[in-house]
Amino acid sequence: MKLFSRITGTGSYLPPRRLSNADLAAELATQGIETSDDWIVERTGIRARHFAAPEVCSSDLGLEAARLALQAAGVQAQEIDLIIVATSTPDMVFPSTACILQDKLGANGCPAFDVQAVCSGFIYALSIADAMIKTGAASKALVIGAEVFSRILNFKDRTTCVLFGDGAGAVVLEASDTPGILASDLHADGKHVGILCVPGHVSGGNVLGQPLLQMDGQAVFKLAVGVLDAAARATLAKAGKTAADIDWLIPHQANLRIMQSSARKLKLPMDKVIVTVDQHGNTSAASIPLALDAGVRSGKVKPGELLLLEGVGGGFTWGAVLLNL
Ligand code: UT7
Repeated sequence: MKLFSRITGTGSYLPPRRLSNADLAAELATQGIETSDDWIVERTGIRARHFAAPEVCSSDLGLEAARLALQAAGVQAQEIDLIIVATSTPDMVFPSTACILQDKLGANGCPAFDVQAVCSGFIYALSIADAMIKTGAASKALVIGAEVFSRILNFKDRTTCVLFGDGAGAVVLEASDTPGILASDLHADGKHVGILCVPGHVSGGNVLGQPLLQMDGQAVFKLAVGVLDAAARATLAKAGKTAADIDWLIPHQANLRIMQSSARKLKLPMDKVIVTVDQHGNTSAASIPLALDAGVRSGKVKPGELLLLEGVGGGFTWGAVLLNL
């Protein structure tokens, strides 16, 4: 049995409709909501985001990203024996987005399920796929982060609606004789449910409560910088590595200031950090695989390099994965 799991292909997809900060500010102004490119760039580093068309779901975005990851890995859809989709914006209440995507991909038969850990979802999903491959339960997994966060934004709340975007990223993770994923570290603390949530639910055919995203941005910010650093250090320690060994830090793309803080705490220069938040906004579970694929396809991130992926999000959830590409 092969003892390790390794990423053999990456892919990503953004819906074509791109809104710069100025475009979004102009749309919000028609509703009497005031914001500006200056404020958004200064507080977050975000310059643009993509929004999916109304009929496009997370499974559609994930499908495009998955096809590109399969192509990069040289793997046929029918060879896939595990599909995990990380999403907080599923196509339906049920079945899972992973099942819907599986059928669109033509990979029918293999286990397929969603992971709900909000912006840490891809880190959770990748760790689960790694564990399943290491036990022999799977040998060629598709791990996808896909979101249509535009569907759950409150466009009357300028403190949140300017932050998020839609998109998907995917990796093919295969059983390997040589180490790819070296260590991971996952956490959650449910006492922070209220600082980042979409508290609505469906009951008796109606949506009850608030079905749109609400966030205490400053509380999230403070928690995020602390737990990301702890997860990064714990993951490095498990693998017997130090921050100086890292070739690329690929953080969840929520806010440039959080990424700068993570890099500073690890004493890494910003030119070792993959940054896509400026062009994508916060795409929640899709942000890390989108950034990974952007890094790979730009030629920056190369095979054999040591990558630290780290995520944090609603729940509160957080974690990190250290891997050799
Ligand atoms: O993936 C999930 C993880 N989420 C995050 O990582 C989010 C973490 N938090 C953050 O990124 C930041 O807290 C925010 C970007 C959300 C907010 O930045 P901040 O520096 O904490 O700003 P603030 O909330 O303290 O607001 C400062 C001012 C306020 O005005 P007053 O009260 O000082 O007059 C806000 O009303 O900025 C105002 N403001 C805005 N102004 C223009 C808030 N949103 C906007 C806006 N445009 N969009």
